[in-house]
Amino acid sequence: MSTKIRLAIFASGSGSNAEKIIDHFRQQQDIVIAKIWSNRSNAFVHERAKKLDVPSETFAKKDFKEKSFLQELKDVDYIILAGFLWLIPSYLVEAFPSKIINIHPALLPKFGGKGMYGSHVHEAVVRAGEVESGITIHLVNEEYDKGEILFQAKCEVRASDTPDDVAEKIHALEYEHFPKVIEDYIRSHKA
Ligand code: GRF
Repeated sequence: MSTKIRLAIFASGSGSNAEKIIDHFRQQQDIVIAKIWSNRSNAFVHERAKKLDVPSETFAKKDFKEKSFLQELKDVDYIILAGFLWLIPSYLVEAFPSKIINIHPALLPKFGGKGMYGSHVHEAVVRAGEVESGITIHLVNEEYDKGEILFQAKCEVRASDTPDDVAEKIHALEYEHFPKVIEDYIRSHKA
């Protein structure tokens, strides 16, 4: 019987965080990336998956919303949302209690909720004249960006920063912390 812990990554876009997570866990014997799922067949994350030799697949919204999708995840222990834009349906939250982890590119509870994703977040931060932003890694429940916060890290926002400047700082924080926070969380919850 395999004692490996298997992660599925859900990603909607470029997948640079997914790549960092894959790189990180490549060095671990007991935690593996089982598959990458995307809601977009043309998302760049599929190219990264191919390059890194990790299986990747696209799901349609109607399949994702059906409980029968659980069949696809029967060997999965944790789901990692790395830039994934759809709301997680309740059947998935129930099937993976405290086992779905998301990263949000701002300091929740600020700048969270529906429509607050990608560049929209950084534009809102700059528009609001914030002097800092950051990342939030949190558990997922039925509401966007409302689950228990596991970790936050901050960066400075200067008056001259554009949304792209903020995005760059946020990505650096994400790459530095997300894989390690996932690992620490999983290891501290191992039976
Ligand atoms: C990240 O900033 C993540 O926090 C947000 O979407 C972005 C995804 O970037 N939710 P990438 O696809 O990992 O490059």
